Amino acid sequence: MKSAVDPGMLQPATPPVDRLGRGLRDLRVSVIETCNYRCPYCMPEDSTPPESALDRARRLDFAQIESVVRGFVRMGVRKVRLTGGEPLLRKDLPLLVSRLAAIPGVEDLALTTNASLLAGKAQALRDAGLHRLTISLDALDPEIFRQLSGGRGDVADVLAGIAAAEAAGFSSIKFNTVVQRGVNEGEVLRLVDHFRGTPHVLRFIEFMDVGTCNGWQPQAVVSSRELHDSIHARWPLRPLQPGYRGEVAARHAFLDGQGEVGFVSSVSEPFCGDCQRARLSADGQVFTCLFAAKGSDLRPAIELGGTAIEARIAEIWGQRADRYSELRDAGRRDSKKIEMFFIGG
Ligand code: GTP
Ligand code: 5AD
Ligand code: SF4
Ligand code: SF4
Repeated sequence: MKSAVDPGMLQPATPPVDRLGRGLRDLRVSVIETCNYRCPYCMPEDSTPPESALDRARRLDFAQIESVVRGFVRMGVRKVRLTGGEPLLRKDLPLLVSRLAAIPGVEDLALTTNASLLAGKAQALRDAGLHRLTISLDALDPEIFRQLSGGRGDVADVLAGIAAAEAAGFSSIKFNTVVQRGVNEGEVLRLVDHFRGTPHVLRFIEFMDVGTCNGWQPQAVVSSRELHDSIHARWPLRPLQPGYRGEVAARHAFLDGQGEVGFVSSVSEPFCGDCQRARLSADGQVFTCLFAAKGSDLRPAIELGGTAIEARIAEIWGQRADRYSELRDAGRRDSKKIEMFFIGG
């Protein structure tokens, strides 16, 4: 899966380090700022405008995205994840995947999707060189699923997408489930039961106060501890070592050997200390935190070309001091924040 290249040759002379001593390893690229769903915790129908011609015109084209990814790789990035909004709405996405998969130094190329359109695209994505898939799935019950997608989604499409992805050769898929108290807690054991015994990995994500329009309340968060304990009571678990430094999900294996689950505890146990992730929005801004109020425009550097992109990335990273999740309890909650659908989690 890894590109045949000596990683030493790609290491920048001085790898960028932020003001808190964190490196830069992981880039998330949003390819589109809209979605076909309207999940109330991300893109609530009544507070998000429809896609505009201006949005479309501002999107980076594939050549520009490729230049930016090459710049990030030259600054030390090895993992790239494509996100949205819903990335499968971006026309000809497999073409972008093949361009990014061919970049020496991109060791891991993944995509996060709601899988509603995956059935028709899984094979093309695989053929284009996509390494891994992550699918957002908050419920299996058709009614709860529909409600959680803002009335737009059909869980049968997602199940068809999963089957197509398996058939295309995505052997271990990650599933992200955001749990909200009183909404989909009842789906947790059902989801675990569904994916136990498969090579896939289900991860539960604490509901976060991303953006400004999802009506987040601390009472709606179901902690990873609580989720772990209810799963453990039914199917005993044991903790596993992280798969790599800075992994956001804490891994746990079923004692009976039927696979593993993960817990992403960004509310109850923030992991900012190890955060080596940068995010690129579809319109070419770099965000150094999921909760940032504003991004830094890369477009002028893209237009200059040459080493201007790396220089700008180094400058942005060198100024970074974000650790929002660690400061959440200190009352930093209500400031202006970028919306989740704009930078894709
Ligand atoms: P892999 O381990 O490489 O598969 O990726 P990952 O665990 O980073 O995957 P993914 O992007 O699916 O992350 C899971 C979820 O964790 C995201 O959808 C976010 O909700 C949350 N998350 C990921 N990165 C961050 C982060 O830097 N900060 C916070 N607060 N939450 C994050
Ligand atoms: N809290 C936690 N996770 C969220 N996601 C979207 N909004 C939130 C939120 N408020 C998750 C989605 C998807 C990923 C892109 O981000 O469920 O898995
Ligand atoms: Fe779309 Fe994912 Fe946001 Fe839901 S969580 S509205 S599927 S981008
Ligand atoms: Fe990184 Fe910001 Fe998330 Fe902390 S809150 S882990 S700094 S993205």
